[in-house]
Amino acid sequence: MSVPLKTISQVSELRQELAAYRREGKTIALVPTMGNLHQGHLRLVEEAKRHADLVVTTIFVNPLQFNAGEDFESYPRTLEADQTMLASAGCNLLFTPSINEVYPNGQDNQTRVVVPGVSEGLCGQKRPGHFDGVATVVTKLFNFVQPDVACFGQKDYQQVTVIRKLVDDLSFAIKIIEVPTHRTPEGLALSSRNGYLTPEQLVKAPALYTVLKNMAQTLTTGNTHFHELTHTARARLAEQGFAPEYVEVRNLDLSPASLDAKSWVILIAARLGKARLIDNLIVQRDSN
Ligand code: PAF
Repeated sequence: MSVPLKTISQVSELRQELAAYRREGKTIALVPTMGNLHQGHLRLVEEAKRHADLVVTTIFVNPLQFNAGEDFESYPRTLEADQTMLASAGCNLLFTPSINEVYPNGQDNQTRVVVPGVSEGLCGQKRPGHFDGVATVVTKLFNFVQPDVACFGQKDYQQVTVIRKLVDDLSFAIKIIEVPTHRTPEGLALSSRNGYLTPEQLVKAPALYTVLKNMAQTLTTGNTHFHELTHTARARLAEQGFAPEYVEVRNLDLSPASLDAKSWVILIAARLGKARLIDNLIVQRDSN
């Protein structure tokens, strides 16, 4: 059901608006995004609605989390379509700040939030400084909105892990809700960057999920030769036209996979044409 969606771009107006809701005793859920919304984002909004009286979605393409040569300039900006989708999903408030509104003192001089350990390796290694940019903007969004809960997609597993540590270490009174990855019927995890895929690549792309499922299946049968498994998975991906960046099995807290863990997460990043795709799968070990 469509609800009236109010769009605000100034921090001062946002704070004023939210203060009024808080005075009425209403709880607030935050859904941070970079826009170009798809069904996966709408799942976040739907989940957010279950946990709070008011849902605030933010759309901000954060320059701090892009490296030189990445797609900051070309990242798809589709505000009108996003507003229509958010209204139909029942989002109440949309915050669309400018870069200057978020970083009024400039980006170079901006205080950064660094989350050690979990920000390193995986995407953190391939995209140096990326998670510092994410942690910095998410901290600012938390301060702007002061939500009771915030929803993040499980597709960005390392990002959610970074944010959980950030919330814990900086004592934010915010509950983090992780929403399962939304997939196409063929298994491709929804992502704004899927828009970079050609029709042929869109047909190939679900192979990434097949590789994850096959690895998970092998792990559950008791094969814990992690190195061999990841090596084979990389070869499978390369055969299908992907350029794998990493394939790793980790413990759920992203520490190196231990043989006695009850569950693991398999994480993959691979390029397919112009798109850099990431995906992951949690493997529960057979208790028998
Ligand atoms: O996942 C994203 O879209 C972004 O990394 C986030 C959390 C909105 C921060 O810019």
